[in-house]
Amino acid sequence: MPQFQAPPGTFDVLPPASARYEALVGRFARAAHAAGYGLVVSPLFEDVGVFRRVGESTDVVRKEMYDFDDKGGRRLALRPEGTASVVRAFVQHRPPTPFKAFYVAPHFRYERPQAGRYRQHHQVGVEALGPADPDLDVEVVALAAGLLGDLGLTRVRLRLTSLGDAACRPAYRRALHDHLAARRDELCDEHRDRIADNPLRVLDCKREPCRKATADAPRMLDALCAACAAHFDRVQAGLRALGVAFHVDPSLVRGLDYYTRTTFELEAEALESAQSGAGGGGRYDGLVEALGGPPTPGIGFGLGIERILLACDAEGVFPAPAGLLDAFVVDTTGGEAARDLTAELRRAGLRADRAWEDRSFKAQMKAALRSGARLAVVVEPEGVSVRTLQEKGEAEVVERAQVADAVRRRLG
Ligand code: HAM
Repeated sequence: MPQFQAPPGTFDVLPPASARYEALVGRFARAAHAAGYGLVVSPLFEDVGVFRRVGESTDVVRKEMYDFDDKGGRRLALRPEGTASVVRAFVQHRPPTPFKAFYVAPHFRYERPQAGRYRQHHQVGVEALGPADPDLDVEVVALAAGLLGDLGLTRVRLRLTSLGDAACRPAYRRALHDHLAARRDELCDEHRDRIADNPLRVLDCKREPCRKATADAPRMLDALCAACAAHFDRVQAGLRALGVAFHVDPSLVRGLDYYTRTTFELEAEALESAQSGAGGGGRYDGLVEALGGPPTPGIGFGLGIERILLACDAEGVFPAPAGLLDAFVVDTTGGEAARDLTAELRRAGLRADRAWEDRSFKAQMKAALRSGARLAVVVEPEGVSVRTLQEKGEAEVVERAQVADAVRRRLG
């Protein structure tokens, strides 16, 4: 075993497997662009306070954060989630609204590593700041669900709820708190002492005692104020209009504290339930203010790239794109022709590679096959020919000056 390995809970993604990563990110970026979102790149680490604002009562912040002092004595944290970073950047730069951003970024959580749960994972996500319009919720939810559908996933469940707002949630929270306080002794060890922190968290507990104690608990959906109820109705009508299937689930609670109103999760049913959350998101209408900005509503989502790819494996969809190369140059005349031809093919917009170190014809043909290229351009003392690699076909003798044209023609 080599002396150094990727740290626990992290992994390397090498070619050819990384081609799926690239393809997924490419599809996401195209969909985000098509909906008017632009790329935001923000630091991998922030002042720890940025993330504290997203949830003092959450595991993500309390237990799992990679925080540390830098050499200047600043308390920093590696980004555990993307929304707070984008909101911090928004507050700092105050771009015009609507501000529609997307990101592709690593995220860090000190979790117990297992399949689908890592210490460094990667998310594609969007954040839209400015409009409180429920139709924006529809756009964001449809974008997330649409990406998973576009990859070919069919066993994805979209769970949707509303968590209310500053007008109706406090009273609901009190009612839930009272309900749970009356059943304190029945709750699991972890939640018995945490009801006051955030009673909503208990609704998300998977342990039997908490499930029992919350079975007849008051539900946020029954306690929405008129404005939140109208907002939620409009979101549901919009999703129906766009043909996005969803399931209203009043028990949905997400692992971060900032959510208000529309909140959703995309669950990959092909994965084990503990890691089936392929992505999620929702509104966070108070977060910009919490980070020192003017009152500005916001909504977004984050999708976990690794979980999506695991779900694709489980459903047998979205295989690695085949054949990243158009042509592979095999040269038995010393290598100059390979050097010049690959450059020529690439200038012509083709994807080309070659064999190195003047190996035998057989060794070079083996390398050509392994490369996954569709065609071989074979340079021998007698001349140049173009041959199909992955399936049987005639070798076609071509003029040296016509190689790029011949390759293009053969690719169809
Ligand atoms: P989140 O649900 O904490 O939301 O994470 C989003 C997704 O990242 C999860 O659904 C999951 O697929 C993936 N993920 C999270 N933790 C891990 C892990 N340890 N290993 C592998 N995958 C993981 C957020 O982070 C919010 N910022 C989403 C959002 C954006 N809400 C509004 N805007």
